[in-house]
Amino acid sequence: MNNEHIIDEKKQGQSLHTEGKKSNTKKLFIESYGCQMNLNDSEIVAAIMEENGYNTTNLLEEADLVLVNTCAIREKAEQTVRKRLEKYNAIKKRINPTMKVGVLGCMAERLKEKFLEEEKIVDLVVGPDAYRDLPNLMTEVEAGRDAINVLLSRDETYADVSPVRLNSNGVSAFVSITRGCDNMCTFCVVPFTRGRERSRNPESIVSEIQELWDKGYKEVTLLGQNVDSYLWYGGGLKKDYKNATEAQKQNAVDFAMLLDKVAQQFPIMRFRFSTSNPQDMHLDVLHVMAKYKNICKYIHLPVQAGSTSMLKRMNRQHTREEYIALIDNIRKIIPECAISHDIIAGFCGETEEEHKETLSLMEYVKYDFGFMFAYSNRPGTPAAKRMEDDVPMDIKKRRLTEIINLQQVHGLYRMEQFVGKTVEVLIEGDSKKSAKHWKGRNSQNAVVIFEKTGNEAIGDFVDVKIDTCTSATLIGNRV
Ligand code: 5AD
Ligand code: SF4
Repeated sequence: MNNEHIIDEKKQGQSLHTEGKKSNTKKLFIESYGCQMNLNDSEIVAAIMEENGYNTTNLLEEADLVLVNTCAIREKAEQTVRKRLEKYNAIKKRINPTMKVGVLGCMAERLKEKFLEEEKIVDLVVGPDAYRDLPNLMTEVEAGRDAINVLLSRDETYADVSPVRLNSNGVSAFVSITRGCDNMCTFCVVPFTRGRERSRNPESIVSEIQELWDKGYKEVTLLGQNVDSYLWYGGGLKKDYKNATEAQKQNAVDFAMLLDKVAQQFPIMRFRFSTSNPQDMHLDVLHVMAKYKNICKYIHLPVQAGSTSMLKRMNRQHTREEYIALIDNIRKIIPECAISHDIIAGFCGETEEEHKETLSLMEYVKYDFGFMFAYSNRPGTPAAKRMEDDVPMDIKKRRLTEIINLQQVHGLYRMEQFVGKTVEVLIEGDSKKSAKHWKGRNSQNAVVIFEKTGNEAIGDFVDVKIDTCTSATLIGNRV
């Protein structure tokens, strides 16, 4: 899931906080790691807890309940969470003995009762589909019992929960449209931790967007592990669509239809979406993107590797050539579209030839942005069961560095194409470096910094002429 996919590294693990209800007396400290889906899930959890007596706080020491929304995608993410749990343990012992601690998200699902047995600090373990059960589980915890619910669901989409927007800039928000993943890429733990894919009722998506619009939000990112696979036919798993009735099939809503509907209904709202999977991204989605100015011209299109042989070992459902054909279609239908990738270096059996094919694919696409990782073996995945994690760490690291360095070159190349041009920017807030400058993003998701004139505010769309750039930022002035 990501930058649209992966939360800004600096935001990882930040406490998430908002005002809350006056009548609530208990305090919840909630922290989120991993993808944007997790961040949005934390907002759903905060909404459920707000209805049950808890307001959020950013002071760990005063919390009655600490919830850590965890990520299991790579070993490093898990290690970070374990360190945080040690910290909570220390605070619990020294300062706040009645504080309760819960683990949410993908690690909860992966490690289940191991958390309660081995890591004594944890009182509560709740998987991604069981957040509605949190109030009941808290009753158990308050009675001095350990509590766990890691059941995965066939239909849970939290469609009726209105998320509490945590640490929001009041301008952009996430709206989940699908949950789970059916793709079974051999390296990935997500299908096991988040279960089978299901889509959310489009009416509930539209009403959540309406609520955001009424509150003054200007940008929505539609979220899912595989948004292009979105399919609403009255509820149920995507894989059961084949058993749907004729009437259900006739009234079904796919991603292109959903995108068209929201873009048309909210013409001043900007729409983004993430993540796209190459095999599910069809031309009709590209045509809808081209049709509406308010759909951002940016596609996060993970490829993971550049050779057909490696894609096959990864159980990706397309070849190198099919991916290139999709890129060509994007360039043809939406010439100004930015494209980003996820790439894994050093997956099982990766040869130097295969690595070179990854670099040559990058050369072909010249991605605007990229998210790059060394392969991390995840217990329970098909790769962990059937393949050998046989690329030595020094080679993985060297290949990763080559990929990162090349991405840097391409990022700069893409940014340079904007110099001298005027772009529309949605203002998100002050620039980190100077209160005299605004920070926002253009349609292509590039960060734009420009001087304040005194005539604009957060949430405004303004035209900025780009004077110069770095490999990650455009710098300019209002026209
Ligand atoms: N090791 C390294 N990277 C991984 N990803 C998923 N699983 C692994 C793993 N086991 C990466 C993929 C995915 C992104 C969210 O994380 O590139 O697209
Ligand atoms: Fe994991 Fe592949 Fe699904 Fe992405 S598409 S969540 S990488 S299994």
